[in-house]
Amino acid sequence: MDTNLARAQTIASAEQDNFASSLLSGLRKTSKEIACKYFYDQAGSELFDAICNLPEYYQTRTEMALLNRHAEEITALMGESVEIVEFGAGSLRKVRILLDAARNPKAYTPLDISGDYLCHVVRSLAADYPALTLRPLVGDFTLPLEIPHLPGPARRAGFFPGSTIGNFKPDAAMALLRRMRSTLNGGGLLIGVDLVKDPVRLHAAYNDAAGVTALFNKNLLIRANRELDADFDPDGFAHYAPYNAAAHRIEMYLVSLKRQSVNLCGQHFEFAQGEPVHTEDSHKYTIESFREMAARAGFNPRAVWTDQDRLFSIHWLESR
Ligand code: TRP
Repeated sequence: MDTNLARAQTIASAEQDNFASSLLSGLRKTSKEIACKYFYDQAGSELFDAICNLPEYYQTRTEMALLNRHAEEITALMGESVEIVEFGAGSLRKVRILLDAARNPKAYTPLDISGDYLCHVVRSLAADYPALTLRPLVGDFTLPLEIPHLPGPARRAGFFPGSTIGNFKPDAAMALLRRMRSTLNGGGLLIGVDLVKDPVRLHAAYNDAAGVTALFNKNLLIRANRELDADFDPDGFAHYAPYNAAAHRIEMYLVSLKRQSVNLCGQHFEFAQGEPVHTEDSHKYTIESFREMAARAGFNPRAVWTDQDRLFSIHWLESR
């Protein structure tokens, strides 16, 4: 085993929930829903990486370009000997930009819900950064969690890219920011936020021509079939992701194309023809509206970087 790589630890939380119980309660609601964190099993994480490379999905490439362009300034704000804590680490492509520019970074603590995927990507990171302490943590960053402190003084800096904050309703997003602030223990947070823009462009980003986003959405059903022995017909549902301009958000659904019933954990669920199952929201902010929310969550919004076309923004929030 690589010396700088701690064993991936599973973070225990009193509120541990699971796919089966979440799916059962979501499908019992009058307006059916499936929680979006269950997108990210191994197959879902790989499909999401494919989404990030789609021509329509401008977010990843714009955010990477911003990180590259401003890496010096960003890592100077983070300071020396920092411990970078990433919430929902995914493929680890983005943090490499920070690690390359950072002054003598002390540790990197990636947190992700997809344990197998995390172990796989951390292994290759360990080989490329032999001097860095790596602490992969498998867990759900939406639950309260305590990350143990490393020996010796290290300032923490949070990293939450990809506009994942947009996947929470504004109230939940605020609560999450507050929780991150306490996890960071006085350290700042670097966070990527997708911006309000031409709705046609937004719509295209979640309805790609190659149909990868549709596959990603339907992976929830395929996962339920595999892990919970459900009998969803993935072709019996359509991917539908309209932009709700009044609420500044993409809303994602699986819409039942026919009247059908599904068996899941010994229970029976009826779907009417045309009935939607809500699977995700992706809220968009203006730079100002996001800074206001961050301030209400107890941060001091400091630097902000955006591209020429104002597609995407990265914010440096200091704890106060
Ligand atoms: N944080 C990403 C976003 O809202 C997640 C995402 C992008 C996503 N495309 C998706 C989630 C498609 C589900 C389906 O932009």
